[in-house]
Amino acid sequence: MQLILAPMQGLVDDVMRDLLTRIGGFDECVSEFVRITHTVHSRQTWLKYVPEIANGNRTFAGIPCTVQLLGSDADNMAVNALEAIRFGADKIDLNFGCPAPTVNKHKGGAVLLKEPELIYHIVRTLRQNLPAEIPLTGKMRLGYEDKTLALECAAAIADGGACALTVHARTKVEGYEPPAHWEWLRRIREAVTIPVTANGDVFTLQDYIDIKNVSGCESVMLGRGAVMRPDLARQIKQFEQNQAVSEANFAEIAGWINLFFDLCLAKEANNKYPVARLKQWLGMMKKVYPQAGELFESVRTLKEADDVRPVLQAFERQQQELVCLA
Ligand SMILES: Cc1cc2nc3c(=O)[nH]c(=O)nc-3n(C[C@H](O)[C@H](O)[C@H](O)COP(=O)(O)O)c2cc1C
Repeated sequence: MQLILAPMQGLVDDVMRDLLTRIGGFDECVSEFVRITHTVHSRQTWLKYVPEIANGNRTFAGIPCTVQLLGSDADNMAVNALEAIRFGADKIDLNFGCPAPTVNKHKGGAVLLKEPELIYHIVRTLRQNLPAEIPLTGKMRLGYEDKTLALECAAAIADGGACALTVHARTKVEGYEPPAHWEWLRRIREAVTIPVTANGDVFTLQDYIDIKNVSGCESVMLGRGAVMRPDLARQIKQFEQNQAVSEANFAEIAGWINLFFDLCLAKEANNKYPVARLKQWLGMMKKVYPQAGELFESVRTLKEADDVRPVLQAFERQQQELVCLA
């Protein structure tokens, strides 16, 4: 059983990967997609997107990180993948699911699900060009407009030479609208010979149990649920290891919020990044925790990191006192 932290462009960058893998439960994570057009990225660019490359492809907590590529020019993707490998990358994933209009307009992401033969060509070209010891994996949605090509696309990824496949159980047109079609994960898993990782709408431990039962998949990828409930992977791991499942209290979460802010500041102290990322995260967490909503309101109008920091620290102290009183 493997728990994988989903690639999420603009949401799960190296700082969020660092934080969530420190909290625990994850076996692997995947970088945000690195878009490949007609150029070849420099070492600096690879390290900007995937700083883990300089740390043996591991997050601070030691969890392996895969580099994800997005594009449709198979030859140039292979050249770029080889460059990433030259700089230290040791596992490559290919994105066949991104729904963003700009990306799709340039023939990248989910639009490729209309052309399984092109998917096959891309995977095959990369597999033939990469050293045999470098694992190559794929990630797809169920289709673009409908699911008629889902099995063909999965077969294209497997036959092209990928060693594993992650499926987000929705089409591009379905966006992020519930429900995710977990029954399709089973159909795909039964149709291909490579391992399939189940993905889509796992927000709670019960969702995890359900997606495993419906799909029959051994591995599960957590996306938004892991950001909204930062100890979700840890809960799942405790469950899988027959330990008592303990949910984090908000004092612990407030500590992670402060750590996250510090990590953001360490990355980029002099711009809007730390405050923006904090608000983005609180905005997602408030769907699960009312306390995150309160904290969000306290920092909503603040723009400077120096003004935000004391609010976060006071909030953590307050949450710790509440735990002591309980
Ligand atoms: C903000 C955001 C950014 C995403 N970026 C990527 C990406 O870079 N690569 C990718 O393969 N999937 C990306 N995805 C899709 C997720 O990896 C995942 O498949 C999807 O969110 C469904 O899983 P979930 O319901 O657990 O969130 C993104 C999703 C979101 C919400």
